[in-house]
Amino acid sequence: MTQWTTELLDTFAAAEADGVEDEYLRLVGALWKDGALTESAPAAVPSVVTKLGEVGEDRVGRLLILLGLLIEAEAPVEGAVYTAARAGLDRYLALLDGRADGEPLTLALVYLLSHFPDDRSRILAAVAGLDLGPDDRSRLDRGLQRLNPADPAGVSLGRTWPSPAEWTTMTEADHAFDQSWISKLTPEQLAKRWYDDTVMVLTYSGGKAHWALRHGRPTVVGDTSVHRDARERPDAGDIDAEAFARHAGILRCPDCGGGLTFGGTEIHCARCGTEHPVRLGVLDLLPDGESMFGGADDAMAKAASMKTVGHFYETVARPGFLRLVGSNWGGEVTPADEDRYLTERLGRVDGTVLDLGAGAGRWTAVIADAVGPERVIALDPNLAMLSWLRRRSPEVACVQASALALPFADDSLAAVNCWNALQAMPDARAAIGEVARCLRPGGIMTVMTYRLSPDPVYRYFQTTSSWPGHPDGLDLYTEEQIRSWLAEAGLTVREAATPGAMLMLTAERP
Ligand SMILES: C[S@@+](CC[C@H](N)C(=O)[O-])C[C@H]1O[C@@H](n2cnc3c(N)ncnc32)[C@H](O)[C@@H]1O
Repeated sequence: MTQWTTELLDTFAAAEADGVEDEYLRLVGALWKDGALTESAPAAVPSVVTKLGEVGEDRVGRLLILLGLLIEAEAPVEGAVYTAARAGLDRYLALLDGRADGEPLTLALVYLLSHFPDDRSRILAAVAGLDLGPDDRSRLDRGLQRLNPADPAGVSLGRTWPSPAEWTTMTEADHAFDQSWISKLTPEQLAKRWYDDTVMVLTYSGGKAHWALRHGRPTVVGDTSVHRDARERPDAGDIDAEAFARHAGILRCPDCGGGLTFGGTEIHCARCGTEHPVRLGVLDLLPDGESMFGGADDAMAKAASMKTVGHFYETVARPGFLRLVGSNWGGEVTPADEDRYLTERLGRVDGTVLDLGAGAGRWTAVIADAVGPERVIALDPNLAMLSWLRRRSPEVACVQASALALPFADDSLAAVNCWNALQAMPDARAAIGEVARCLRPGGIMTVMTYRLSPDPVYRYFQTTSSWPGHPDGLDLYTEEQIRSWLAEAGLTVREAATPGAMLMLTAERP
């Protein structure tokens, strides 16, 4: 422990209330940087643990989070930091006394305790009286499990977002499907997937506690829209060629830019002759050989082949994503707010509206209600999501394609909605350029996406988990970056709002 880190700890402990955050970040910065330990960190851990007994409640939670960050920075190794942090277990458990579920300090304790699988039974016994909700409890439980590579049949992978408790209704067929790919993983792949899942539960719990310590108890917002649930609807079945033919004037071949010809269910490029197949009622206009998912062992890609993945995505995974990545723990943005935003901006547009990165279609249905389904095209590279979209909106033309090579003529679209999707794309700047090319003058782009947090600790929680197409974590952007790409593409921002860590904006091609 250097003199410097002792001083930083003391200054943090003694800081005035309005200086706590700055002093905390100085302390964190001395021990941890962007997910890695600094040289001073291992020796400082015992003093951080001791300090827990000397500071007020507004700082205890911050120190607990710092300890969790330090253990994660050392992981998957469990070395000096793990051992020194674990030595404080009695103190952490004592802090649980008198706590209740949902309190910020409880959340910070649950986050830190999730790092000690060696003390699993003791910790679970200690939290038993807290009556934790199923999500927090299941994340804690998963953090306290160790991988048993000798029993791959008993290993569950890719079922932790936003909590293992959300995956308890899986069918036998789902489990069998999981086992079919898990059993083929090498020991290294198994360990890597397990570790990725662990990071997912820890960063979610950490982000939640971090937010709660600054804003109070998180709240959960429900979705009251008629579009909420498409489970009772039948599969939409085969193509209605009309759905594509009415867009014949603007659809283009992704390989050569030629126009398309529509004969019965056959769709060809009039210029290069390529046939563009239709599967599950979705027209495949992906550029030759392009695939959304990375490797064959992409766990989330595997999950996407579950039949009800669209429903799970919209009702469980997406709200969790808005909470952690969008800092929407207080429910600043509700599904009804999103519906209103889209209806008000797109409802007055005259012409074809593209829903870019439409996913499972809950918000495509809102646009279709606002402008009429015959004027909407839904585009996404993920066929599993689009087949779910078709249940709700069978009249909407569905195209499997990439934002990086939009299969539309120049100046052809009245509006493009890119809702909760820019951050999922491999090159957001290129996607914005493509949107601008396809928008006609006066056309608008509506966007909801996320802003990279200026706070390095929250930023770590926001971006560290791996996602389909983003195995090394999320690339989030600042508002300035997104605005500069819009300007570079010739789009003018007409309005922008920044609730939580989100960005909702409307831009126009003048
Ligand atoms: C988080 S989902 C958003 C779905 C929906 N718009 C919503 O608001 O819930 C992001 C979507 O972007 C899609 N996506 C990823 N890469 C893309 C690309 N290159 N072009 C178009 N969409 C892409 C994904 O397949 C996914 O369905």
